Amino acid sequence: MGSVRVGIIGVGNIASMLVQSIEYYRRTGSSEGLIHEVIGPYRITDLEIVYAVDVSRHKVGKDLAEAIFAKPNITPRIVDLKPLGVKVRMGRILDGVAPHMVEDFEPADLPEPSMEDIVRELRELKVDVLVNLLPVGSSEATRFYARAAAEAGVAFVNGIPEFIASSEEYCSLFREHGAVLLGDDIKGQLGATIVNRALASLIANRGARLIEGYQLNVGGNTDFKNMVDHTRLHSKKISKTKAVITTQDNYEELWRKVYAGPSGYIEFLGNTKIAYMYMRAKAFAGSDVLIEVKLTVDDKAMATPVLVDTLRLAKVLKDHGLSGCIDWASAFYFKHPPKPVKSDYQALQEMYRRLDELGEPIYPKRTNLY
Ligand SMILES: NC(=O)c1ccc[n+]([C@@H]2O[C@H](COP(=O)([O-])OP(=O)(O)OC[C@H]3O[C@@H](n4cnc5c(N)ncnc54)[C@H](O)[C@@H]3O)[C@@H](O)[C@H]2O)c1
Repeated sequence: MGSVRVGIIGVGNIASMLVQSIEYYRRTGSSEGLIHEVIGPYRITDLEIVYAVDVSRHKVGKDLAEAIFAKPNITPRIVDLKPLGVKVRMGRILDGVAPHMVEDFEPADLPEPSMEDIVRELRELKVDVLVNLLPVGSSEATRFYARAAAEAGVAFVNGIPEFIASSEEYCSLFREHGAVLLGDDIKGQLGATIVNRALASLIANRGARLIEGYQLNVGGNTDFKNMVDHTRLHSKKISKTKAVITTQDNYEELWRKVYAGPSGYIEFLGNTKIAYMYMRAKAFAGSDVLIEVKLTVDDKAMATPVLVDTLRLAKVLKDHGLSGCIDWASAFYFKHPPKPVKSDYQALQEMYRRLDELGEPIYPKRTNLY
């Protein structure tokens, strides 16, 4: 089956962690920290980045091994890399760079590619899966690259809160072109969303009722800086809030009672993300239960293992000739999947069952209910 040929849109901090982690796991031979070691015939070391696109003058034209350390990226060096032989190509800017981010992303003054150029490049380089890692609020740019992937017959993993895999229009587009579409918006390995969902599920499973809650997130990278412009945040808030309340029966009434979203940029935090969560529940005989949690994580180390799984999963689906939005392959990994699920545990077991039906292994199987 060979490798999984990956293309990256947006060579930012997640891309840096992804590129480095493939080499890190190759050298160490370890599997610690991976969600799944094996998916179908693929391990993390079978991921091969063959295509990368950005618009920054500090990144375009450079070898990917160098570009991932160019400013404003701050993901630390966890491994020494030789040149990868992949030059970062100029992308189409559209709405990828917000006015307040021009000084950070510094768009290059170079000709921008047409849709046909991107489709041709994807085909020439035999890209299997294209992953979208653009800044939040890149609505037009995401749709531009997604359409190019569909037309090239390339699988698309949408890492950001733009509603692509959760839109019937794009699911049909990818189905028509025989390409796989997974998304939307990465649900980090142990990020705020999954911790908040797990606690909200616990409340419901113990017979109590979630009344209200918030999840405030702060961090110091360009992802957080980009999100200080509230006009770019509409879909992010929907994605994060829906991810929490879809665990509950009283889903509709919780819309106005739960807040989950980015809540500030604090530069010195760098890639450290801090989430403060509060939940109030009604339990036995009307008694109040308060849960307050502080979560501290490396934001980029949380997003990357989800990509390591979904890039391989997309290739497995492609190998089987599947196309369009595959609900069961997105539900466990994304905040805003085509079909929201109440239980992450059940979503995971359903994925195991479907892979079993396809005759594809996945290892290790996580079958302990949390
Ligand atoms: N835990 C997480 O980190 C997490 C979880 C879920 C979703 N996400 C989302 O993943 C995305 C990527 O995160 P990141 O931290 O790597 O972001 P980042 O800010 O580090 O990188 C974004 C990159 O996109 C480039 N870019 C801007 N416009 C472009 C265009 N039109 N074409 C090509 N490249 C363009 C920028 O130059 C930059 O290199 C963000 O939208 C983030 O919200 C992250």
